Amino acid sequence: MEIIEELKVLNVSHSFGFSDILKDISFTLKKGKVISIVGPSGGGKTTLLHLCAKLLTLEMGKIKNSFKSSSFAFQEARLLPWKNVIDNIALGLKAQGMAKDKREKEAKEIALKFGLEKDDFYKFPKDLSGGMKQRVSFARALVTNPTLLFLDEPFSALDIGLKKELQALLLQIIEEKELSILFITHDLMEAIKLSDEVLVLKAEPVGHIIKSFMFNYHKNLRDNTFVYEQTAKLLSDETIINTFELELK
Ligand SMILES: Nc1ncnc2c1ncn2[C@@H]1O[C@H](COP(=O)(O)OP(=O)(O)OP(=O)(O)O)[C@@H](O)[C@H]1O
Ligand SMILES: [Mg+2]
Repeated sequence: MEIIEELKVLNVSHSFGFSDILKDISFTLKKGKVISIVGPSGGGKTTLLHLCAKLLTLEMGKIKNSFKSSSFAFQEARLLPWKNVIDNIALGLKAQGMAKDKREKEAKEIALKFGLEKDDFYKFPKDLSGGMKQRVSFARALVTNPTLLFLDEPFSALDIGLKKELQALLLQIIEEKELSILFITHDLMEAIKLSDEVLVLKAEPVGHIIKSFMFNYHKNLRDNTFVYEQTAKLLSDETIINTFELELK
């Protein structure tokens, strides 16, 4: 019997010491779907992602992850400074025990796909631009072909052209490989472009999901007009206005 791949989060709460950070969070991420979590800074988004990825110990509630494999791409690229581009990308393959020749071949292929050039292969992180580091970080997360990807604001420091390029690549991979993503972003337009569901996390008094929006329209058909219209609709929603403390005058 084939296992249904999904991430099920049930009534999860979390505190750091005496500060309550998250309260009663529940959602389900299914195979091939993208869920975005948006919300103001300090609301507990990264904490939630870390709990889901088992980078933090779960205290209350349940998280059931039946995806076959997962990987994480952090907001900062977090590359190993003593390893070159190819060795950084191939880290996960090395951990799986793949032979050196084979993992280098795969790392090079994905590096090219992610817009790095042959000249960059043997550079060390200190000699890369911020955008190049982000490409390496993405390639490293995807080279092992995970079925679930955790992304913590991966595009926030990038210029708009690069952001669009990496978003398009991500959409292609979602479609081709039925990749599932739990995606943290501050950017509503980005969330609308990439997601099947957007969860709004409100920080006050404790981080909780105040609303969820579903988007059924096919992702490849979401042009600028669609994204602008939906963003405008969300921005006029009372819960969004309150959550982000927007002043509409
Ligand atoms: N290891 C920790 N120990 C104590 N408090 C922490 C720890 N990690 C996070 N916090 C606190 O938890 C709260 C939520 O932090 P978190 O990083 O999850 O927010 P966020 O929504 O990701 O914010 P941002 O959008 O700025 O990245 C903050 O008040 C933060 O200070
Ligand atoms: Mg964060």
